[in-house]
Amino acid sequence: MIVDIVRSVLEKLDAQGLVEHDDWDEQLMAQMASLELSYRELRDRQRDLIDYSQLSTQAAYFYRYVIGHADFIYQILTKARAEAGAPLFDEEEIFVTSVGGGPASELLGLIKYLREAEGEPEVSKITYTVIDKERHWEHVVDLVVEAVDVGIEIDMIFQACDLSADAISEEVSLEHEDIVIMSYFISEICTIPSHRQIVTNLNNLLSAMPGGALLLYNDSSAWSFHSFFDSRVSAARRFVVVADIREDLRTAHPQSEGVFADINFRTDYGFKLSSNAVAKVLRRD
Ligand SMILES: C[S@@+](CC[C@H](N)C(=O)[O-])C[C@H]1O[C@@H](n2cnc3c(N)ncnc32)[C@H](O)[C@@H]1O
Repeated sequence: MIVDIVRSVLEKLDAQGLVEHDDWDEQLMAQMASLELSYRELRDRQRDLIDYSQLSTQAAYFYRYVIGHADFIYQILTKARAEAGAPLFDEEEIFVTSVGGGPASELLGLIKYLREAEGEPEVSKITYTVIDKERHWEHVVDLVVEAVDVGIEIDMIFQACDLSADAISEEVSLEHEDIVIMSYFISEICTIPSHRQIVTNLNNLLSAMPGGALLLYNDSSAWSFHSFFDSRVSAARRFVVVADIREDLRTAHPQSEGVFADINFRTDYGFKLSSNAVAKVLRRD
């Protein structure tokens, strides 16, 4: 399911890129190289912030990272369900927010989990909010929602919001969520110069989460990333650990055909399907 949706969205992004840019393959290749380098430098305080505004950056990201990131969310929820010994959700309509959600990779992992996990309610509607500073992700998110055809109504809300800003809109809130997901987001913001505003904004957002809500964190295993997350959780108070996962997450390689084989041939880049992860699922008391 994840692979089919990624393939269908990628076909559209690639077709758009080929029509709009004569040097599309060069752009794709350059962006894959640039993203790879940027992700290696995340602990460097002097680094340039990653710019996801170009179509080629979005397509490169979508091709290389989304299958893995989505499947890791599925695996983390499955492990949390096993640790909890009980369903994670209890309503047929759920409210979900991805903070730093980019192209909504997490939605795909969540849907895979809901379809497969025993005992979870038959969720008929997901109100899904992506909070992200890059407003140009919105058209990719729209393509993802269009491609999801699993009998669950998705009401998508995209909130363009820079969480390092001095003040954020009151409309950005986690007050009504059943689950909040931060996947490969903390690593991008925990060492930036406007760190103090991020701390304040995240403390305020997490403090307002309702009792019973889940908070899922996933990122690469660097201590500076998960200790930053832990500090936000302690400041917000009343979170208890459901699952604490420290292991290599991996997902199976999809069949290299169609647009996947094409992009692989044209750029010589493949999928990133493993992560030395630290992941946590917490529940608000
Ligand atoms: C590595 S991507 C992760 C996207 C998605 N969660 C996933 O796992 O595929 C990090 C995201 O964080 C967003 N981001 C970075 N800094 C941010 C900030 N200050 N406020 C809000 N979003 C931010 C970026 O725009 C990007 O979409």
